[in-house]
Amino acid sequence: MSLTGKKILIGMTGGIACYKVPYLVRSLRKADAEVVVVMTNAAAKFITPLTMETVSNHPVAVDMFEERDYVATRHIDLAEWADLVLVAPATANCLGKIASGVSDDLLTTIICATPRPVIFAPAMNQQMWANKVTQRNYQTLKELGCYFIDPDEGDMACDHVGVGRMQEPEALFEYIKNFINKIKQASPAAAAKKKSLSGKKIVITAGPTREQIDPVRFISNNSSGKMGYALAEEAIKLGAEVTLISGPTALTPPEQSNFIRIKTTDELQKAVKKAYKKCDCLIMAAAPADYKPAEKADQKIKKSKEPLGLDLKPTTDILKELTRNKNRKSPKVVGFALETENGIVNARKKLREKNLDMIVLNQPGKGTAFESDTNEVTVLLPKRKPIEIPLLTKQEISVQLLDIISSLL
Ligand code: CTP
Repeated sequence: MSLTGKKILIGMTGGIACYKVPYLVRSLRKADAEVVVVMTNAAAKFITPLTMETVSNHPVAVDMFEERDYVATRHIDLAEWADLVLVAPATANCLGKIASGVSDDLLTTIICATPRPVIFAPAMNQQMWANKVTQRNYQTLKELGCYFIDPDEGDMACDHVGVGRMQEPEALFEYIKNFINKIKQASPAAAAKKKSLSGKKIVITAGPTREQIDPVRFISNNSSGKMGYALAEEAIKLGAEVTLISGPTALTPPEQSNFIRIKTTDELQKAVKKAYKKCDCLIMAAAPADYKPAEKADQKIKKSKEPLGLDLKPTTDILKELTRNKNRKSPKVVGFALETENGIVNARKKLREKNLDMIVLNQPGKGTAFESDTNEVTVLLPKRKPIEIPLLTKQEISVQLLDIISSLL
């Protein structure tokens, strides 16, 4: 497989396994990837920046504030330039710093700033790898959505034998190739050229709903609306006619969308019901409030020293209601599932009970919280294996989701 056009940033930290990285860079370049190398000062003691410049055919950055052509925003430029970041070798020190948010050199600052997937290839002595703090940092980074090419077992440079040595360059190359293949990081621009949703009418809901308790207080949730708005923007780029129905958010709707603002779950239900009749596909990315106050106070409730009870009653399940009489000719319906436990099982249940054609599972806590710009999701389709989409920006996730949705249409 060719990696033409793929941009890979390799961060090297200080370990003897640095000697393996030039081989990896050569393989990546042979497959037509573009590679930029950033080294820590310690890495530059194991192998020279000149070697890495020669094999990558790009200047190598080491210092944050290099006097030679210093650019204040270089860490941001590099963080955004890459399609993925590979840290190889990744020392125990580097895992510890990144797991705790320390950004005290160019490489750790880039990792802090990048919205792209970050893969670590650890390399260290077997006791350092087995150390409880290293293992805790490894788990933390995995939970935050980073990827690992786990170290191998074998002889070490320090004459010990155990688990800790970095995998061989061929294995790193295979991993990256498969990773890129899996995420098919089609740039939005390239995907847009296909115009795969041309002539399709897509209704997208986004953001939270609000249920008033009294004229100044309400019940709501943390939904930012970013996923729904990103889907709307990308669907427009793919040629769709988009109706965006949104609860209260701080976002600007795409100019070319037919925009409908709603506040409560009842208002959302009315707007969805109307738009659904004339669409090809409904994507319910909104997070409607599931409960509303049994009674709304007409005037502001005055505070007192007594506890305040609040009677809540369920709102309508919009999707369940809508798909009650769904048949093969009905518009396709895509739901989202937000789960904090038993993700796949609960999402499958929602797929079935809400009579959906597809459901997108979100599991906050994996670096993919409500208000985040990135997300990591699993797509479930009836009678098909789950499709994992790794940590990417919500824009990139949207491109991939719309790719699957266009195949349903
Ligand atoms: N949804 C809906 N009507 C509601 C609540 C949710 O149509 N009153 C939709 C959401 O837009 C989403 C899907 O149902 O596409 C699943 O929403 P989620 O909040 O994950 O689940 P709930 O059905 O609300 O169930 P629970 O909160 O118990 O997980």
